Amino acid sequence: MKLLVTGGCGFIGSNFIRYIIKKHPSYRIVNVDKLTYAGNLENLHGLKKKRTYRFIKADICNASQMTKVFKKTKSDTVINFAAESHVDRSISSAAPFIKTNFLGVGVLLNCALEFGVKKFLHISTDEVYGSILRGKFKEPSRLDPSSPYSASKAAADGLVMSYYRTYGLPILITRSSNNYGPYQFPEKFIPLVILNALTNKKIPLYGDGLNIRDWIYVEDNCHAIDTVLHKGMPGEIYNIGGQCERTNRFVVKTILKILKKPASLITYVQDRPGHDRRYALSVTKIRNELKWQPRTSFSEGLKRTIAWYLDNQGWLKNTQTGAYRTFYKKYYGSLGLKDL
Ligand code: NAD
Ligand code: TYD
Repeated sequence: MKLLVTGGCGFIGSNFIRYIIKKHPSYRIVNVDKLTYAGNLENLHGLKKKRTYRFIKADICNASQMTKVFKKTKSDTVINFAAESHVDRSISSAAPFIKTNFLGVGVLLNCALEFGVKKFLHISTDEVYGSILRGKFKEPSRLDPSSPYSASKAAADGLVMSYYRTYGLPILITRSSNNYGPYQFPEKFIPLVILNALTNKKIPLYGDGLNIRDWIYVEDNCHAIDTVLHKGMPGEIYNIGGQCERTNRFVVKTILKILKKPASLITYVQDRPGHDRRYALSVTKIRNELKWQPRTSFSEGLKRTIAWYLDNQGWLKNTQTGAYRTFYKKYYGSLGLKDL
């Protein structure tokens, strides 16, 4: 396979690239990433010399850049991770979310069609369904997003599906629950709690701390995406849930306990506007049809995650100081699109 992975320098994308290189060493991977604040080349440290891997700094919203990438790389499969992904940022400023998460996806779909791509796997989220107090969302459930982030993702899902129905583009969509694990930028809940606990800083818990998320260890999501890529049916949507619902308060207390830090670090702060109370996914479809299910328990995944952050405090520090933003020049000089 000749994979074009977008957003591969982010959290899930970088985990996925490492996963694929290990599982399918013969696959060729081109990683296209704009390197926003969330894109970190250090996440893929060591891959630069691999013959089967290549990084290109480019923006999925830029049609002429993307046309050049598709034309030159002749990729047969696209996996789109590229997105603005943090709900709080989307509340402060929605525009970049609308641009990348919707218009950028439109640019990729047009290129995929023009260059005859054989599979287009779009990475979506459980947040498109909105909140559910009882029961679980299935793939045909109504979309009811609450934040500009989830609304931009829901709009993209509609656009992706329209390219299947209208043009026959062989698309697939995955909607996963909240991921956690190594290389997650410490603005997201679990790494933020770990970082603040390690530095004895207050840990902000929104509202009453009883909102529920379904947590999935990132490696399990990578396994699921790989499964959908190889066994999924074109035109289908697959939920990927960790089957592990926890309140935010429980998550913080568990992390503090593992790190032997006091619960007094917790500080209740004003709630996030439009804060979804509970996310819950049915995984019946992917379990029955593709034989996938999560393998990592929450306690095991959390232990591994905390161990990774403890072992990689240099990485954590670079995200704090902004040093990771200079790696592009250091690793790649001026290499980029023009060298294609
Ligand atoms: P992330 O923010 O860590 O990474 C996003 C990556 O996309 C970064 O490397 C960034 O530089 C890149 N990017 C952003 N705009 C771009 C553009 N215009 N052109 C090219 N690259 C661009 O995000 P993540 O947590 O790894 O999430 C990856 C995908 O998975 C997203 O589509 C997100 O919506 C989805 N998702 C995430 C979660 C989660 O818990 N993190 C859960 C469900 C779905
Ligand atoms: P987050 O990691 O932002 O993921 P999402 O909002 O996409 O689910 O947040 C996870 C949960 O943690 C969510 O209910 C909001 C809550 N939260 C806090 O209580 N405090 C924080 O500082 C952050 C970042 C999140």
